[in-house]
Amino acid sequence: MAESEVLFTITRESLDTGLRGFPVGTCPNSHVDPMKGLFYGGYAIPELADKEPEAVIYLLLKRDFPTPVQLADFKQEIISHSKLHPGVIEHIKGLPKQGHPMKWLLSALNAMGMYSGTGDYAQDYLNVIAQLPEAVAAIFRIRSGWGDPIPSRPEMGWMENFVYMLGAPGASPKLVQLLRSFAILHFDHGGGNLSTFVGKSVASGLEDMYGSLVAAMAALAGPLHGMANQECLRFLKTISKDIKDPTDEAAVHTYVENLMARGGVLYGFGHAVLRVEDPRATVQYGLGELLAPKDPLFRLAVTLRKVGSEFLKKKGKAADPYPNVDAVSGCLLSACGLTDENYYTVLFGLSRCVGIAGQIVYERKEARGGKGVPIVRPSYLYSGPVR
Ligand code: MLT
Repeated sequence: MAESEVLFTITRESLDTGLRGFPVGTCPNSHVDPMKGLFYGGYAIPELADKEPEAVIYLLLKRDFPTPVQLADFKQEIISHSKLHPGVIEHIKGLPKQGHPMKWLLSALNAMGMYSGTGDYAQDYLNVIAQLPEAVAAIFRIRSGWGDPIPSRPEMGWMENFVYMLGAPGASPKLVQLLRSFAILHFDHGGGNLSTFVGKSVASGLEDMYGSLVAAMAALAGPLHGMANQECLRFLKTISKDIKDPTDEAAVHTYVENLMARGGVLYGFGHAVLRVEDPRATVQYGLGELLAPKDPLFRLAVTLRKVGSEFLKKKGKAADPYPNVDAVSGCLLSACGLTDENYYTVLFGLSRCVGIAGQIVYERKEARGGKGVPIVRPSYLYSGPVR
């Protein structure tokens, strides 16, 4: 690319639009194409959803698939970093139950940093990805009253161990398969999604990995970002109270029409970048047909996929009238036994910390020939009173 190439023109209309579409940096880990969706290290996400999570983590970090030997070494490295400080569990036990699980995640990450932070981004990357499954499983168990944390067995595999440590009452044997894919689909989403941008911005001031991830996860907790998965399941549950047959397209159409006429929100549709159905949603619709084909909420999500898109297209106002990743993830989690939607964003966070931490390592240790990206400092045009 020529040095002087114009990439984006900023006009007055560009201001106060949330930096929408402004190129601000480079990201070698992942990217989002408006028409093709998400890629990790150049591979399209549908090609990756069935792989081993550890191999995809490696791909994101090193931008290449590991050889079998490299994968075995990498797994061993994760295992060797997986000892969570017991003080973190004690800390989690003291948190107020009325706090949302995402507040617990922020608190747990902060405690992890205080107990085990090394100040080195690459070391802390490994510690975070290796230890976070244990912390998140403890959040589920302690906050839900399922019992004491289950000791970690990291040799089982990154996601297998997480599901084992969850010990979720009523969980389906299909939960491991679902969560392996769920994790891969949520690891990363280019350099500019809110939580990643926030995490990298905080790290640009040389705050350590843990503090940067705390900030990133606070960003993820907003309902317009990661917490949308929780809201989407609530939305499906609300519709299902009024619609007896989840495959009834006419009834769902009428519901959507009335909802939109009242100024309501069609949760799970639209995206800031994508202009096609989110391929992460497409993969999950396919997974649902395998894992939970008869689940009423899944069937409703499938009906909504068609009816909602048709409705939004006809209305002609939505830039992206298609389902996004959150449209269907919740009903699959629920069908596989994780029925409390309050925890869904924590699962998103467990996965997204992998991508954000990887991008932080890149920006701090590799970008600009190893010098790192300087402190983030955009400018705002003064619009207050002139004296
Ligand atoms: C994400 O996965 O981060 C969301 O789709 C939001 C985004 O990319 O802006």
